[in-house]
Amino acid sequence: MLRNDQSVFELGFPSRLTFETEGVRYSGSKRSVIPKIHELIHLLPIHSVLDAFAGTTRVSQYFKSAGYDVHCNDLAAYSSVFGRCYLVNCNVERPELDEKLKFLNHLKPVDGYFTEHFGGEDDGAGSVKAADGKKKPFLLKNTRRLDAIRDEIDKIAGDKIEHAILLTSLINALDQVENTLGHQVAYLSKWAPRAYSDFILRRPRLLAGDGNYRVTKMDARKVSDRFDLAYFDPPYNTNNTHTPTTRVRYASYYHFWTTVVLNDRPQSIGASNRRLDCSSDTLPGAISKYESTKYDQVLAEIDQLVSNANARYVLFSYSNKGKVGIEDLEKIFARYKVLAIEKFSHRENVQKLLTSNREWLGDQSANFEYLFLVEKE
Ligand SMILES: C[S@@+](CC[C@H](N)C(=O)[O-])C[C@H]1O[C@@H](n2cnc3c(N)ncnc32)[C@H](O)[C@@H]1O
Repeated sequence: MLRNDQSVFELGFPSRLTFETEGVRYSGSKRSVIPKIHELIHLLPIHSVLDAFAGTTRVSQYFKSAGYDVHCNDLAAYSSVFGRCYLVNCNVERPELDEKLKFLNHLKPVDGYFTEHFGGEDDGAGSVKAADGKKKPFLLKNTRRLDAIRDEIDKIAGDKIEHAILLTSLINALDQVENTLGHQVAYLSKWAPRAYSDFILRRPRLLAGDGNYRVTKMDARKVSDRFDLAYFDPPYNTNNTHTPTTRVRYASYYHFWTTVVLNDRPQSIGASNRRLDCSSDTLPGAISKYESTKYDQVLAEIDQLVSNANARYVLFSYSNKGKVGIEDLEKIFARYKVLAIEKFSHRENVQKLLTSNREWLGDQSANFEYLFLVEKE
């Protein structure tokens, strides 16, 4: 049976392949776009692929399942962890893993950094209550277990890959009980039913493979190796001129996963206890260049990204609600041999559909996802 963080796509060509991916809830995840990507690329003469904005690594997982050599990259530290778990690891047996997960699942809860900053109680009427008066993303029983488990992972992991597998298991489990709408800049004021569950670490869906797999954490433009295909899925930002600063900023939206991975007990700030290092756009590295509020800067960045790409084919994802207009993107891609421009309906980002306070619903007009496929040389 499928868990709700998994998806299966039955693909009829070339040989009824099944592509299954696993990952956390993530704004801009391409989980449901994978069949379209497959349709566009499976007949191309490609062997090596770059997934330069890998996020959850769902697309990289598909690339690996489809038999390509894969390099996944993202600025986010948690994405590198997912990449080592799903991509670099090819040993699907790992008998010792079950023992370690069982050990972690049964650790005695302790009070620590996560409990102090992210744990809350039920006030008796289903609302979140905490000593500092803030909303919290987890019940205390779960942050106490997290405090115990996170430190222990550093002690019991046999190597860097196993460390990443254990961390991925922990993050996947926490994602199932997190009291949010899918991002970590605002928490719900009432406890959702999911939040009352005890999280359970499970074996991630490890993938076998006999290709070359690499993971990096750098600005996508700096990846200079040669690939047959470069897939670019940068942050879309927003074209909403009424609320130009209200857009997905990944470092801030998923600050909690960064802290779980780094376990660096950062100074935290604001209603959601975000890491100080992502709390303001003015801090170095807090926002990506694709998340700038300046149209020309984002346009120039995308232009450079595509022209620098050291790949025969470039596949590019964007949305009609993104910062840069589709006409301007078409001008960039018109410089190359355009093989396809696919436009299709796509569900909006979770936080736009499910806003809790009903005050900011964003632009409610139709959302279209685009895939541009060009041959550069
Ligand atoms: C739209 S999401 C990608 C989603 C991903 N394709 C998936 O299916 O999960 C954009 C990603 O770009 C990353 N990012 C932002 N700026 C970046 C940059 N300059 N270089 C590399 N990654 C970047 C973010 O951390 C985020 O994970």
